[in-house]
Amino acid sequence: MRPPGEEVSPAVGSWAVNTTLLDACWGKPVERLPVWFMRQAGRCLPEYRALRERYGMFDIFRNPELAAEVTMQPVRRLGVDAAILFSDIVVPLAAVGIEIELQPGPVLAQPFRSSGDLARLRPLEPETDIPYVLDTVRLLAGELDVPLIGFAGAPFTLASYLIEGGSSKTLGRTKAAMHADPAFWAELLDRLADIVVASLRAQVEAGASAVQVFDSWVGLLSPADYRRSVLPATGKIFAGLEDLGVPRIHFGVGTGELLELLAEAGPDVVGVDWRVPLDRARGRLGHHVSVQGNLDPAVCLAPWDVVAREATAVLDANAGRPGHVFNLGWGVLPETDPATLRRLVDFVHGE
Ligand code: CP3
Repeated sequence: MRPPGEEVSPAVGSWAVNTTLLDACWGKPVERLPVWFMRQAGRCLPEYRALRERYGMFDIFRNPELAAEVTMQPVRRLGVDAAILFSDIVVPLAAVGIEIELQPGPVLAQPFRSSGDLARLRPLEPETDIPYVLDTVRLLAGELDVPLIGFAGAPFTLASYLIEGGSSKTLGRTKAAMHADPAFWAELLDRLADIVVASLRAQVEAGASAVQVFDSWVGLLSPADYRRSVLPATGKIFAGLEDLGVPRIHFGVGTGELLELLAEAGPDVVGVDWRVPLDRARGRLGHHVSVQGNLDPAVCLAPWDVVAREATAVLDANAGRPGHVFNLGWGVLPETDPATLRRLVDFVHGE
């Protein structure tokens, strides 16, 4: 509670800040379970849609006032315990000169086709390549009274866009490159890991209090392929962030068989989708990492009694163990009623 008359939200680090997200990430007990939603900014909020009628995606990403405003919209409306920076996983790739449009998914003018394309992936210099991202983070760090989560795409998921040139259900070309040319593949993922580390380090130095690495498409790989072809790069990322002392969250979709390997990469928290109940996920992950998740986002389209029942099932599966961040198992679906999300936040908070 703020003292009467206090108008300004204190920045993270001062006494009135809500740190339940950070505590849960570190496995500490919390008085109130923290909750936020992947893709909570944008998507289903009418105030976001109104802005989008006037501005393109990159116009918002590159304008710190607009990007900060969109980041704060769900904090105000939904009462979530964390903000996630409004940006996209392809922003650092565009910033090093890869031609990418969002239509709405990423589409590349010239997908990577051979090892010669590696020359197009130069290192990221955050202060000169993504100054608008860092200015957005600085603005938010001064305004928010909840932690700001910085983020990046993981090397495998970024590589899939570079090679496919857009979205793909099978990632056939990506996997073919991985199997056919291991030297090219290893170099590609290593360069992407360096870009991710540079971007996330800069976000934290600008004021982000936690980071999430999205490996959305990695669930298409077998454990053997993940270990051989992806783990070296994700391991490099989490090692490269360790000294910053902020919680590192690692998330992928359809990763039931990969959970142990995601933990082996070295994050503090593993995001779990709705397919694996949290008690089973914990059985695979062991005691050293926290868990985040994992209500099926589609449940939020159902009547409230179903939402409450399924949210209770998530809470029951975790059985009150410390080290749980409540979230959906993947991003908010665009057709979700924001009022349902608000009610869900209050429900998880026990209000
Ligand atoms: O959902 C995930 O899997 C998270 C990882 C991810 C992001 N962007 C993070 C993100 C992925 C896989 C992308 C690629 C991407 N970029 C897609 C998916 C395409 C596909 O292949 O299925 C799309 C549609 C975009 C473009 C994009 N990015 C839009 C239209 C928006 C605005 C909000 C929305 O979702 O409509 C974004 C913002 C964005 N992308 C955020 C994040 C973490 C910030 C918003 C938030 O998290 O609340």
